[in-house]
Amino acid sequence: MTRVLFASSEVYPLIKTGGLADVSASLPEALCRLGYDVHILLPGYPAAMSAASKAGARPVARFIIDGLSVSLVQSRLPGTAVTLLLVDCPPLFGREGNPYQNELGVDWPDNPQRFKVFAQVGARIALGQLKLLWVPEIVHCNDWQSALIPVFLDDHPARPGTVFTIHNLAYQGLFPRETFERLGLPEALWRYDQLEFHGQLSFIKGGLVFSDRITTVSPGYAEEIQTPELGYGLDGLLRYRRPQLSGILNGIDTRTWNPEDDRYLDAHYGPDHLRNKRLCQARLRKALGLAPQGAALLGFVGRLVEQKGLDWLLSVMPPLLERGCQFALLGSGESRFEQPLKELARKWPAQVSLTLGYDEALAHQITAGCDLFLMPSRFEPCGLNQMYSLRYGTVPVVHAVGGLRDTVFDPADNGIDNANGFCFTSPSSLSFLETIERALDCHKNRKAWRRLQENGMAGDYSWTQSAAHYGELYQGILAERQNPVMQ
Ligand code: ADP
Ligand code: GLC
Repeated sequence: MTRVLFASSEVYPLIKTGGLADVSASLPEALCRLGYDVHILLPGYPAAMSAASKAGARPVARFIIDGLSVSLVQSRLPGTAVTLLLVDCPPLFGREGNPYQNELGVDWPDNPQRFKVFAQVGARIALGQLKLLWVPEIVHCNDWQSALIPVFLDDHPARPGTVFTIHNLAYQGLFPRETFERLGLPEALWRYDQLEFHGQLSFIKGGLVFSDRITTVSPGYAEEIQTPELGYGLDGLLRYRRPQLSGILNGIDTRTWNPEDDRYLDAHYGPDHLRNKRLCQARLRKALGLAPQGAALLGFVGRLVEQKGLDWLLSVMPPLLERGCQFALLGSGESRFEQPLKELARKWPAQVSLTLGYDEALAHQITAGCDLFLMPSRFEPCGLNQMYSLRYGTVPVVHAVGGLRDTVFDPADNGIDNANGFCFTSPSSLSFLETIERALDCHKNRKAWRRLQENGMAGDYSWTQSAAHYGELYQGILAERQNPVMQ
C-alpha cells in the first residue's frame, strides 16, 4: 500500500471555490479504491474544522512554526475512507468564507505566510519530523498554495517522491521581493532557475522546478502551457521539464453527478430512459421563473471571470434572446461581468434567469434541465462542467481548448456517430454564436440530437483510468528513487 500525502488548499465538501476542490476529494478517493493509502493535507479553515470534528477529529501533533502554535488534527473526509489532516492554526486559517480572499474579494495580505506555513507542515510530515506513525512515500502537491513543499524537501536525501499538479497556470502565487525576505526563505533560492520570476517571488516555480514529476489536468493543456500564449512566461521552464511533464485528464465524482439518482433532482433519468429529463427542464423553468416554453434552454455554471469567456457569452446572448432562446445562469465573480448579466436578466425576465452566488443544488438542476451547456472558456485546463453535462445528456458547446478539446467532439469533425457536443476553434464571439446556431439547428433534428445525447451519456468520465495513471507515475518515481542510476 503506497502511502501518499495529497496536499491541497481546497477539498469538497469542506471548502470549495472551483474544480480543484472536486478533484482533491474524488482523486484521493479513487486512489484509495486502487489500494493507495492516501492522507489529504488541508488548512484548518473553520468550515473544515467543524465538519472534521463531526467526523471524529483528534490532534496528532503540536508544534511551533514562525512563532505560531500549530496543531495537526486527524479526521476523515466525510463519507469516505480517506484520512484528512488539518493544519489548525487559527491566526492563519481561522477565517470564515473564501479561503484566499476577504468578503470584498481582496486577497488576504498574509497569503504568502499562510501557504508557506502550510507547506512547512507538509514537509515536516513528509520527513517524519512530527513523529506520526505514518510517513508518506509520495507527496502530491496541487497548485501554488502547496508548491513550496517540494522546495523544503529538496535537499533531504531520504525524502519522499514529489508530484506537482498544475490545475491552473494563471494562478502562480507571485509576490514582491520583500515578501521573499519577510518569509525568511534561503537567499540561495533567489535565482531565475529557482523561485525568482522577473524580480518577483513565484510560489508555483517551487513546484515546477523541484518536483520529481509535473502533471496537469488534461493532455491538451499539457501541450498548451509549453507555448508562449498559455505559458505565462513559464513555458520555457515547462519545455525544459518536458520529460517529466504529462497531462492526465481529470475524472468526475460519478456518484454525486449521476442523473439516475441525483439527490438534487426530483425526477431521474438515464441513457435509455431520457423522458424525465423533460420534467427536470419544466421544473427548472418554473423554479427560475422562466416562461414555460422557449426555443431552447441554455445553461452556464461557473466563476464569472475572464477565463470563462464571459465577454463572449455577453455578446451572443442578445441575438439568441431575439431568437427565443432562454438562459439559466449561475455563478459569482467580477462585477464587470455580474452587472451586464443582471441588466440582461432585468430586460428579459421570461428568458434569462441569473443566480449570483454559489448553489450546489441549482448547479445540478441546471446541468440536468438545460438543452445546451455553454463553456466558451478562453482557456480551460480541464473543466468539469462539460463532463457533468455530457453525463446528464445536456449537449455542451465549448471553445476547443485544453480539457474541453479532449472531451467534447463535434459532428463536423467526427461525424454524428462519434460526436457528443459542439466546438468552436477561432477565439471570437462570432464563432461562438455560429456554433450555438449549428447546435440549435441540430436540436431540431430529434434523431441526431438523441444520438449526441446518447454518445455523451455513454462516455466514461470516472476516475478509473486517470487514477491508475497517477498510480503508475507514483510507482515510476519510487522505482527511480530506489535505483538512482537509472535516471
Ligand atoms: P474551475 O475550477 O476553473 O472553476 P471547473 O469546471 O473545473 O472550473 O470546476 C468548477 C466547479 O465548481 C464545478 O464543480 C462547478 O459545478 C462548480 N461551480 C462553479 N461555480 C458554481 C456556483 N456558482 N454554484 C455551484 N457550483 C459552482
Ligand atoms: C482549475 C481549472 C479547471 C480544472 C480544475 C480542476 O480550476 O480552471 O479547468 O478543471 O482546476 O483540475
